[in-house]
Amino acid sequence: MTEEVSRLRKDLERANLRYYALDDPEISDAEYDRMMVRLRDLEEQYPSLAAPDSPTRRVGAPPLPKFETAPHAIPMLSLDNAMSEGEVRAFDQRVRKGLGLSPSQAVEYTAEPKMDGVAVELVYEDGVLVLATTRGDGFMGEVITENARTIRRIPLSLKGEGVPRRLEVRGEVFLPRRHFALINEERLAQGLPVFANPRNAAAGSLRQLDSSITAGRPLDMFCYGVGRAEGASFKSHFGMLEDLDRWGLPVNLEGTRGRVGLDEVLGYYKELLAGRNESRFEMDGLVVKVDSLRLQDELGATSRSPRWAVAWKFPPNRELTRLKDIQVSVGRTGVLTPVAILEPVNIGGAMVSRATLHNEDEVLRKDVRVGDLVWVERAGDVIPEVVGVKEEPGRERGPGFRMPDRCPVCGSEVERGRKREKLKTIERFREESATRCVNVHCPAQVKETIHHFASKGAFDMDGMGEKLVNQLVDKGYVKGYEDLFALTREQLLDLDLMGEKSAANILAALEKSRRVSLPRFLYALGIRNVGEHVAKLLARHFGTLDGVRNASRKELEGLPGVGDTIAESVKAFFHNPDNQRAVDGLLARGVVIEEGKKAGGEGAPLSGMTFVLTGGLSSMSRTEAKDRIEAAGGRVSGSVSKKTSFVVAGSDPGSKLDRARELSVPVIGEEELNRMLKD
Ligand code: IVH
Repeated sequence: MTEEVSRLRKDLERANLRYYALDDPEISDAEYDRMMVRLRDLEEQYPSLAAPDSPTRRVGAPPLPKFETAPHAIPMLSLDNAMSEGEVRAFDQRVRKGLGLSPSQAVEYTAEPKMDGVAVELVYEDGVLVLATTRGDGFMGEVITENARTIRRIPLSLKGEGVPRRLEVRGEVFLPRRHFALINEERLAQGLPVFANPRNAAAGSLRQLDSSITAGRPLDMFCYGVGRAEGASFKSHFGMLEDLDRWGLPVNLEGTRGRVGLDEVLGYYKELLAGRNESRFEMDGLVVKVDSLRLQDELGATSRSPRWAVAWKFPPNRELTRLKDIQVSVGRTGVLTPVAILEPVNIGGAMVSRATLHNEDEVLRKDVRVGDLVWVERAGDVIPEVVGVKEEPGRERGPGFRMPDRCPVCGSEVERGRKREKLKTIERFREESATRCVNVHCPAQVKETIHHFASKGAFDMDGMGEKLVNQLVDKGYVKGYEDLFALTREQLLDLDLMGEKSAANILAALEKSRRVSLPRFLYALGIRNVGEHVAKLLARHFGTLDGVRNASRKELEGLPGVGDTIAESVKAFFHNPDNQRAVDGLLARGVVIEEGKKAGGEGAPLSGMTFVLTGGLSSMSRTEAKDRIEAAGGRVSGSVSKKTSFVVAGSDPGSKLDRARELSVPVIGEEELNRMLKD
């Protein structure tokens, strides 16, 4: 019996490999199914024979109520981008400088395609897959083990010599192009919305609470790195890829140039770029990595990305297509945006049928008219954009575009804004490009505002998607975000396609999101010009909602990273009676703001902040400054990155100041530092 089970498992895994990895099946589907049924029967009859790495586990498990999360033992960082050959050469120079090499000493790199999919970490213990997580925010990911098990290319157990005791492998899960096209065809036929690109399709397929849906999508994966490894040691990146390959993990060795010099990297980029649209999967560039792991270690990483790697992105994809119509949509702040409705066109693997035209000025500048042949560009995950018109001599063109003078959603008047502009010596008003609907109760604005309120960076309400929000507003159950917390089961059940279970889930999600941190709360309110970053700055400085509410304009303006535009938006927001009612309504309906003792939650005044010191200080030594910052919960780092909270510039500051300006990191003086320390 045991023998038959293990033979079936081996044959099925082999069939999986032929089918999914090599695209060259050896046995018929019927034969495959017969073996699978037999194996499942045997495992059911003899439960002692069941195993976590059996191919029967690849068909999916019962749906989960929600994703659990799990930390990454080593954070999953991101990559710095290079957009040109010059930037890659500059990367090479930085690397060589960082390693103290002379101009004649070259570095060996490994260059591999950058897949456009979803980053995943797989954990193997004693060679058996025990956990799979998404990248999440880099520190915590969602547990998607059952879903990962359905991906045929992911081995449920490792094989070969020297399999480590514990291995955390990282890679990109993606949907091969051909399957992307097929899935979309199917979805179209079923009247479902199509996926915009293979990455969305991969993410949508992988992040399924019902893993049997994932099982039905032919996802693939390539591994490109290792997190923590116990019982294994690697010397070079390429060598590590070869080990992973030997243990049965999917690695794109064929597409990788191992241990090559800079010139070969440059040549390989051109080769890949030329073939990018013929490739089996979507690539968005080439990742160049220092091959030696010892040198990687020596170079280290910033809080965001390693210094030993760079992602050399492909230039944006452009295609020509016909402009069928220009529709106008209304956003959260009432801004009217002209949207191009296009003859669907495949741009580098993604079907595009809508693109933004930004604003009226842009449409007029490019002189885009309905009926024109237009160039449409898609860059990575950015919304596609109409970049220009292709002239067609002799063809009669339609009339020029005019922004409607009434809101297309609520019919109210629209206005072109004016913006206060403060130059060194003069202050003046300048016409803004944006056209706005003046009605703050415009359903389009209300919907977008609520959608924003519930979004991931804000209250993060599970299930509160666009369709649900639209219905709630249309039915009049929700007029402002404060009403979300007063929703009843009966109201929810009154909506289309809402059953007892979904209603209960929504109510549970609302209950769960009732407690929020101050930065999230501030961000959720939708104050103009207050994004996640500014919300954090405000929360850190003022510590409480009342602190922010009652702050004077002067106090706001004086905050590093907060200019007068933001100060004005914040003041205007809390001054408005509608907003006051909404905020009070939230508190009255039981929203609890977790207000740390200043400093974004953790207690100490500078907790969560990173400082970089440059130049000489007069009131204390560098070491003293470092000690005091750390005593207040902050961190001091030696180099400036986007994650740096503040650069403290003393007398005669060095290049770190330039770097801060480049990255728009707030720069403060010694006095401000002293004030923050006293706070
Ligand atoms: S290495 C420490 N290699 O790109 C850096 N990443 O922009 C680890 N990606 O989150 C990344 N293909 O999801 C690396 N061959 C490759 C990749 C790759 C795709 C993704 C990955 C990462 C993102 C960074």
